[in-house]
Amino acid sequence: MIRFLTSGESHGPALTVTVEGLPAGIPISLDGIHAEMKKRMTGSGAGGRMLIETDEVRILSGIRFGKTIGSPVTLLIENRDYKNWGATMSASEQPDEVRAAARVTKPRPGHTDLAGVQKYAFDDVRNVLERASARETTARVAAGALFKQFLAALGIEIASHTIRIGHLSLKRRDYGFDDVKASYATDPETRCIDAALAQQMRDLIKDTRMRMDTLGGIVETWAVGVPVGLGSYVHFDRRLDGRIAQALMSIQSVKAVEIGDGILSAGLPGSEVHDEIIPDGSRGFDRNTNRAGGIEGGVTNGMPIIVRVYHKPISTLYKPMNTVDILSREPVKATVERSDICIVPRGGVVSEAMLAYVLSNALVEKFGGDVIGDIQASIRTYLARIR
Ligand SMILES: Cc1cc2nc3c(=O)[nH]c(=O)nc-3n(C[C@H](O)[C@H](O)[C@H](O)COP(=O)(O)O)c2cc1C
Repeated sequence: MIRFLTSGESHGPALTVTVEGLPAGIPISLDGIHAEMKKRMTGSGAGGRMLIETDEVRILSGIRFGKTIGSPVTLLIENRDYKNWGATMSASEQPDEVRAAARVTKPRPGHTDLAGVQKYAFDDVRNVLERASARETTARVAAGALFKQFLAALGIEIASHTIRIGHLSLKRRDYGFDDVKASYATDPETRCIDAALAQQMRDLIKDTRMRMDTLGGIVETWAVGVPVGLGSYVHFDRRLDGRIAQALMSIQSVKAVEIGDGILSAGLPGSEVHDEIIPDGSRGFDRNTNRAGGIEGGVTNGMPIIVRVYHKPISTLYKPMNTVDILSREPVKATVERSDICIVPRGGVVSEAMLAYVLSNALVEKFGGDVIGDIQASIRTYLARIR
């Protein structure tokens, strides 16, 4: 089984991620990891923090001579902003006046600021927001880069694109995986594959920034080359659709997860929803459509996996909403932390990382997990049997 744990505060010295259970022998490229990190930093609607950070990854363990060695892989990403934070993020005891000056007491609606201080008995919202912040996704993306390199060794690729920002939706349905994969190169600012719509999205984000408001949207992620039979229908916690939904819903600001045409299909007759089965010379069976998004009954069916996540608008508003001071209990305006306007273009690579994690785990579960060559051989045998 593959597991990973991240650690680190948004303005602390560093973020780390430890990944356990990666098979030995996976070729790992540091350049490949950095390419993923860059995607998380690029996009219209990003805030000032991305101008400070470089998100350079240091490999601390688990990789030798460019390959995994079966032991835990630890990655470290320094927060360059830490040096600007003085005593505010100090790990050592500080005088009362320093702590008072650093204290945040006006919880932002839409963040976990208020529930967090109540839950952990804090008098300072910073203890909560530092960890609840999506700066944590930097570590997830670093881990995701490892998972994607594992999947690549098995012929599986993952990519995502933006299909909605605010009220602006992609209407085209005539695209395939190559278009999705090209979205970052086509328009790194929005990651929308339609040039005219991308321009409208950029204008909308600019306008929203001027109005000191924020925007949400939808990211669609594809995985291709996934073999039939990952996950299982036999028990609730083995269903792959459920596992994907949990992993994607855990991304900060994601409020809904859709697999295939899930939302649309609830309003259509069955004959317009299900994907008819047709014979295929090389693979045995095929489908003309993929409305199910590659999963039926909690099991992959060999078609591309297609999942959509719905991001709510960012909760930190430069024109802050009403709140209550946790110490004085007086009505006040919420704290303003330096913040993005729209994270949807940058969110795609986080969805890719989480989907890569779930698929990596499901593959190790089905095909064994010690050595990459054994897994490749096992998949070949299996694919020959089901043809
Ligand atoms: C990549 C990424 C960057 C984010 N950046 C910000 C940000 O700058 N400011 C902010 O208020 N929220 C940001 N968010 C969203 C918050 O982290 C999220 O809304 C918050 O943690 C509350 O969690 P919830 O929305 O899942 O309930 C970001 C989310 C992601 C995925």
